[in-house]
Amino acid sequence: MSQRDTVLYRGKTLRADLRDDGIVNLCFDREGESVNKFDARTVTELGAATEAIRASGAVRGVLVTSGKQVFIVGADIFEFTATFAQSEAAIAAHVGRQNQVFTAFDDLPVPTVAIINGLALGGGFEMALTCDARVMSTQTGVGLPEVTLGLFPGFGGTVRLSRLIGVAAAIDWITSGKQQDAAKALASRAVDEVVPPDQLYPAGRARLLQLIESGDWRESRARRHGPVPADASTFESARKALKRVSTLQPAGLAAVDMLERAAPLGRDAALALETAAFGRISRTQAAASMIQLFINGQLVQKKARTYAQNAPPVRRAGVLGAGIMGGGIAFASASRGIPVVMKDIAQGQLDSGLKEVDRLLARQLESKRTSEAQARRVRESIRPTLNFESFGDIDVVVEAIVENLGVKKRVLADVETRVGADTVLASNTSSLSISEMATALRAPGRFVGLHFFNPVPAMPLVEVIRGTGTDARTVAVAVAFANNLGKTPIVVRDCPGFLVNRILTPYMLGFLRAVADGADFEQVDQVMEAFGWPMGPAFLQDVIGMDTLEHVLDVICAGYPERMTIDFPNAVKALVKQGRLGQKSGSGWFRYDLDAQGKRRKVADPATQELFATPRSPAAPIANEAILDRILLPMVLEAAWCLQEGVAESAADIDLALVLGLGFPRHAGGPLKYADWIGAAEIVRRCETLASLGPMYQPCKLLRDLAGTGGLFHPLEKPA
Ligand code: NAI
Repeated sequence: MSQRDTVLYRGKTLRADLRDDGIVNLCFDREGESVNKFDARTVTELGAATEAIRASGAVRGVLVTSGKQVFIVGADIFEFTATFAQSEAAIAAHVGRQNQVFTAFDDLPVPTVAIINGLALGGGFEMALTCDARVMSTQTGVGLPEVTLGLFPGFGGTVRLSRLIGVAAAIDWITSGKQQDAAKALASRAVDEVVPPDQLYPAGRARLLQLIESGDWRESRARRHGPVPADASTFESARKALKRVSTLQPAGLAAVDMLERAAPLGRDAALALETAAFGRISRTQAAASMIQLFINGQLVQKKARTYAQNAPPVRRAGVLGAGIMGGGIAFASASRGIPVVMKDIAQGQLDSGLKEVDRLLARQLESKRTSEAQARRVRESIRPTLNFESFGDIDVVVEAIVENLGVKKRVLADVETRVGADTVLASNTSSLSISEMATALRAPGRFVGLHFFNPVPAMPLVEVIRGTGTDARTVAVAVAFANNLGKTPIVVRDCPGFLVNRILTPYMLGFLRAVADGADFEQVDQVMEAFGWPMGPAFLQDVIGMDTLEHVLDVICAGYPERMTIDFPNAVKALVKQGRLGQKSGSGWFRYDLDAQGKRRKVADPATQELFATPRSPAAPIANEAILDRILLPMVLEAAWCLQEGVAESAADIDLALVLGLGFPRHAGGPLKYADWIGAAEIVRRCETLASLGPMYQPCKLLRDLAGTGGLFHPLEKPA
């Protein structure tokens, strides 16, 4: 602000200063925070600033700017849970009142230009859309990501964007939720001009002066406040494209229907439709669950930062075993700039590990996700070796050798003598006890589980398993390493199956029991896929491999004999006996044929149907709803056990882990959010109807208590 500026408005999130040339700088600059966002206060302050601008009489034009590196990142999602706990009508009324503020800004009697210096997403981009023109930095992005939260824009975004760039393009932006770079935003005319960051302010100002002088803005504004031409076929083809996801995540389809009804209307009538539809969509399971998932992600990230804050830097890593997992971990580490020594006992394994790294790099090069130079750096920072020579100055070693307790203990005891006193030792074991493995070490406090998921480069989750003796520094280093690799670490207590595979086991048992009772496995897969799982349990078992699964189920079930018992014909063992190991052997539940491109294709196999054709009463086939309950409820119950026992620290940890690690359907938010949506009392009631199936269907005390009090796993309060 210069001396010649007059303060029109000063708030805690924005200010409006009038220069003596009649131009207002409306600057979003939230006090005490690094980003701008639209919370209730910001909307109120925008209303007050708009009124001050309107009332001034001396204003010729307005520049909307940001005092942060971002423009405005969107609405404050932490406010959503409380707002969306109200009725549809109350939500619509609330959003309608907020919308009047945006409309008042849109109706200012002077031209307005947004200078988009950094990310303008959701409500932030909707603010920019209320302006007569937008000038954007070459270095940033804009977009309407609401659909990823099970919503669509509610601050007028559907109305203003469709009138600005046309209905078809607006549908694409809104239903994909994708962030658009400057070139794309310009090409679709969502912004008027794109310039390098240092030219933004002059370019925005020049455009505003041009609008003031020409008066053109009046005409284009009037056009934007009118109806928008649209063809019925645009909506039809959009609906067709969205069909698959629409029942689970209805926001995209609802947006298309609403846009169709709103197209022939003027702005205000269209806004009323948007607001009413927003009230409806914000009350869906998908919105509740996906908003919770966003919040879970923030909570978990914050916790990971806190865990890692006192960790010494991880400068070099070591990996034992150059197999599927070791190779993947080495690649992930090198890709994130942490050089890694990869040791194996067989040259052939080292060679094939490196071949896999080359394949991954080639794919990245092909899709332009990396440069030649960067790919070379990654490749050179993986050092294959058959001995321990370079293990002296390594900060973390991750063991990823064969899944055998005796071998692992022997190897870990040996490694401990080769590394420095501060080196953290980790195991990627998927089923062995971390506390037990630690007994092989002289300093068990330095040992921790680091459970990556396959394929490592693609899977975001890492379970950090704290054994009984693992010390705090070791946990800190393990979490820091996972953070450095761009993964989401979740700290869990050592127990059979840890968190994710433990909760997966009752799901698998529920499936095997249903099949033993005569359910058709293909029908089960269809039901679970319709629920939103990326694959049904039979297909998943084929992917895991029947022999691996047999071992994992044996180990985990042995850990929970009071409820995880297989007292029915075990199809996994039957398939193993037949050599039907799943995808890797060409057949399991399904058969895997190679298509013309050499790709594996899943096909039904009458032989399996015969194998499991249990005589069942035609009068009592297992209905789809019963299948869902039989298989999903044991998973929900086990998640509750894990929370009750403190295996994970919070419901947020558990639900996020299941979504990231297993692909639990996002629209249902994870097993505990699913229980919240259905209600703990209803879950308990359904379990009672399934009680004859065994103790796996008995809820733990925590769940029964919630059922009694009407409580939630994810209470609505705002996180600190
Ligand atoms: P793999 O069989 O592909 O690789 C194991 C590698 O370790 C082989 O290259 C072998 O030569 C090497 N090796 C054996 N003894 C060694 C020693 N003393 N020193 C150095 N290298 C040695 O096995 P994979 O699948 O990579 O699994 C490794 C570990 O990761 C196991 O504990 C497994 O339970 C766990 N895991 C596996 C997952 C998967 O999906 N494959 C997922 C999560 C964990």
